[in-house]
Amino acid sequence: MAAPCKPCIRAALLGAFAFTRGVLNSRVAVRTYASDSRDGEGMAHFGFQSVPEGEKAEKVYKVFESVAQKYDIMNDAMSLGVHRLWKDALLRIMNPLPGCRLLDVAGGTGDISFRFLEYVRNQQERLLRRTMRKHQTPTWHEIAASYTSQQATVLGGSRAVVCDINKEMLKVGRQRAKDLSYGTGLSWVVGDAEELPFEDDQFDIYSIAFGIRNVTHMDKALQEAHRVLKPGGRFLCLEFSHVSNPVLSRIYDAYSFQLIPVIGEVIAGDWNSYQYLVESIRRFPDQETFSHMMAEAGFFSVRFTNLTAGVVAVHSGFKL
Ligand SMILES: C[S@@+](CC[C@H](N)C(=O)[O-])C[C@H]1O[C@@H](n2cnc3c(N)ncnc32)[C@H](O)[C@@H]1O
Repeated sequence: MAAPCKPCIRAALLGAFAFTRGVLNSRVAVRTYASDSRDGEGMAHFGFQSVPEGEKAEKVYKVFESVAQKYDIMNDAMSLGVHRLWKDALLRIMNPLPGCRLLDVAGGTGDISFRFLEYVRNQQERLLRRTMRKHQTPTWHEIAASYTSQQATVLGGSRAVVCDINKEMLKVGRQRAKDLSYGTGLSWVVGDAEELPFEDDQFDIYSIAFGIRNVTHMDKALQEAHRVLKPGGRFLCLEFSHVSNPVLSRIYDAYSFQLIPVIGEVIAGDWNSYQYLVESIRRFPDQETFSHMMAEAGFFSVRFTNLTAGVVAVHSGFKL
């Protein structure tokens, strides 16, 4: 086994020390929840900093440009793989049927869209198996016909569009799609959540996972989501949220503030971007406030499901 490098050992020791100190101290984070991502007239928050509104998007762009290549590996490292379970849970709540069209905004490297295609393919296969079971002794003609239609309708006409403002994230996503053989039913579009490059009433489902907290005007992004959804369409947002249990909250804060930037430095050589990520999580509104914002944007039947004691929540609402 290769010996760990000196900077790694130093960073690990630093992290362990900081984490212990953080838990004991408990004064690790100032929780400041805003009703949207703005900091008063003309200003926006960028993590814990207040910056002119016009500068936030560029700063966020630079963060994701910088982390794009290591984004997926960092997600696994930071969450110990749990982000995969959260994304799977989002898909179970979404429960898309074959034929449905998904718009995955802030889709980054494609995790949600890949899961969507997988989910729909499994649903479609189940449906076909059920149909086949009905004809227990099909003729050769029926077998040949069903095989052809299976090939043609493996996704039942479903499509996923990954839309993200950051070209680097999309580039990494496209390469992953190629490596994992996700081609059919998938497209990649550069676009801003606040001004989506799509016509009205186009999609059955709009998803945004760990994306909306990075947007300058969340209210605009919500209105855009509402605009592009078909009547009856569903908005789903997976986002870091508010842990109400005080003990868990203290451990979680210590972990986020003391260890995540260290992991970012060791794996991606980028402390600042990961410092921003944890700060932006703390600035995101809690479950009730975000639900209220969704209702203000025109969504009905608004509800949320907490995952991992509220570390993240899935928010859901419908366009009528
Ligand atoms: C934390 S990543 C989430 C990626 C992916 N959804 C996932 O769950 O792995 C946040 C993404 O939001 C994108 N983003 C930030 N601001 C955006 C905006 N205004 N419009 C669209 N995408 C945006 C970033 O480029 C980045 O890819």
